[in-house]
Amino acid sequence: MYAVLFGKNPALSEAEFYSFSRRFGLNVKPIRSSRYWLLFNSSRKVERYFHWLGGSLKLIKIVGEGEGAVKDLEYSRFFTLSLYGRNDWRLWRKLGSKIKRHFKEGGPTKFFKPAKVYAMPAELLLKGFPEVKDFVFLFREGESALVGETVKVTDPFELKKLDVGRPIQKPILSIPPRLARTMVNLTEVRKGSFLDPFCGIGTVVQEFVLQGLNAYGCDRDGGQINAAKKNLAWLREEFHLKNSAHLEVCDARKLKRCFRQRFDAIVTESYLGKPLKRNPSRDEAIKFANELDRFYYPVFESFANVLKRNGRVVFVFPAYKLSGGGVYRKERKWLGKLGFEVLGRYTDYEERHRLVRDIHVLKYRG
Ligand SMILES: C[S@@+](CC[C@H](N)C(=O)[O-])C[C@H]1O[C@@H](n2cnc3c(N)ncnc32)[C@H](O)[C@@H]1O
Repeated sequence: MYAVLFGKNPALSEAEFYSFSRRFGLNVKPIRSSRYWLLFNSSRKVERYFHWLGGSLKLIKIVGEGEGAVKDLEYSRFFTLSLYGRNDWRLWRKLGSKIKRHFKEGGPTKFFKPAKVYAMPAELLLKGFPEVKDFVFLFREGESALVGETVKVTDPFELKKLDVGRPIQKPILSIPPRLARTMVNLTEVRKGSFLDPFCGIGTVVQEFVLQGLNAYGCDRDGGQINAAKKNLAWLREEFHLKNSAHLEVCDARKLKRCFRQRFDAIVTESYLGKPLKRNPSRDEAIKFANELDRFYYPVFESFANVLKRNGRVVFVFPAYKLSGGGVYRKERKWLGKLGFEVLGRYTDYEERHRLVRDIHVLKYRG
C-alpha cells in the first residue's frame, strides 16, 4: 500500500496522478483520499516512474496504522520524521523518541530534527536520502494515523535547473517546468509524436525531449524559436541526451503547412491575451474571452488538421480573477462542434499572475 503526497495544487495533482497511472499502466486502485494525499494499491512500477510526476511531492510506502506501527518500520542509522495533518512540536518529538527507542536493538541511530518544520521538504531530504530515512505520519480526522516511509520524491533541484539553469529565460512568459510535466501526463499518451505549437522558449518541448518523446515545436516568432533552440542545445548537453526536437517558425493557425505528419498529442500554453493591469469586471472578462475565442477557433481548426484520431490536447485557456471576487471561466461549446471532447478541466493559479490558467484536457474524435 502506498500514499502519494500532493503539491500546492492538490486537485490538479490528483488528476495528474490518475492520468499518470493510466499512462504508465500502474494499475492504481484508490483506497482513501484526503485533500492532500491519496492512499492506494498499485503495481510496484509506481516507484520506478514516480520521478515523472510534476505535481506530487512524495511517494510513501505505508507499513501500518497508529503509533503501534512504529515497530514495523525498518531500522535505519539515520532518520527524520514528517507529520502531515498535525503541527505539534511535542508530538513530533514524542514520535521521534519512540522510533529511536524501537531502533536501539538494531544498533546506533540518529534522529535529525530540522528547525521549524514538521514535514521534511524534498529539498532537505535529498541531501541525505536514501541513507537518511524519512518516516511519515499522515493524520486523519477521528482515525488513527497512517504510518510509512518515503520511498521516492520528485526532484525540485532538477525542476529548478530546467527553469533557471537555461541560457534563455523569460520568467513572465514561460510556463513552470513542473506544470509542463503535469500537462504531458494529462495527455495519458505514453509514446509518440508530441507538438507544442506555441512553444516560446521551449519549456514544454524540453519536457518532451527529456521523456524521449518525438518532440516538435513551433512559434510564429523566429526570435522565440532561436531561443528555444539554444535552450534545447543546453538541455541535451546538461542531461546527456541523444534525441532532440524539430522546431519551426509557424503560425499555429496554419499547422498543416509546416508539418506533414499527424500528432498523438498537443500540449501547449498558447497566447493568453495582453497582460492585465488590474482584475477585470465580469463584463470585461467576458469581452476579453470572446475576443480571444476568435483567435482560438482557427487554432483548433488547425489542430484538427494535424492530430491523429483520438489524439489528445492539453491546452491552457485564460480564466479571469474578477474585481468583485470569484473567477470567470468561459464555456466553449464550439470545441464540440470542431470534434473536440472536453475530458477534464483544472485551474492553476500563480500568485505573481493576474490570469488563472484554465487547463483543458481534450480528445479529438476526428
Ligand atoms: C505564453 S507564450 C508560450 C510560452 C512557452 N510555454 C514557454 O514556456 O516558453 C505564447 C507564445 O505564443 C506565440 N504565438 C502567439 N501567436 C501565435 C501564433 N498565431 N502561432 C504560433 N505562435 C504564436 C508567441 O510568440 C509566444 O512565444
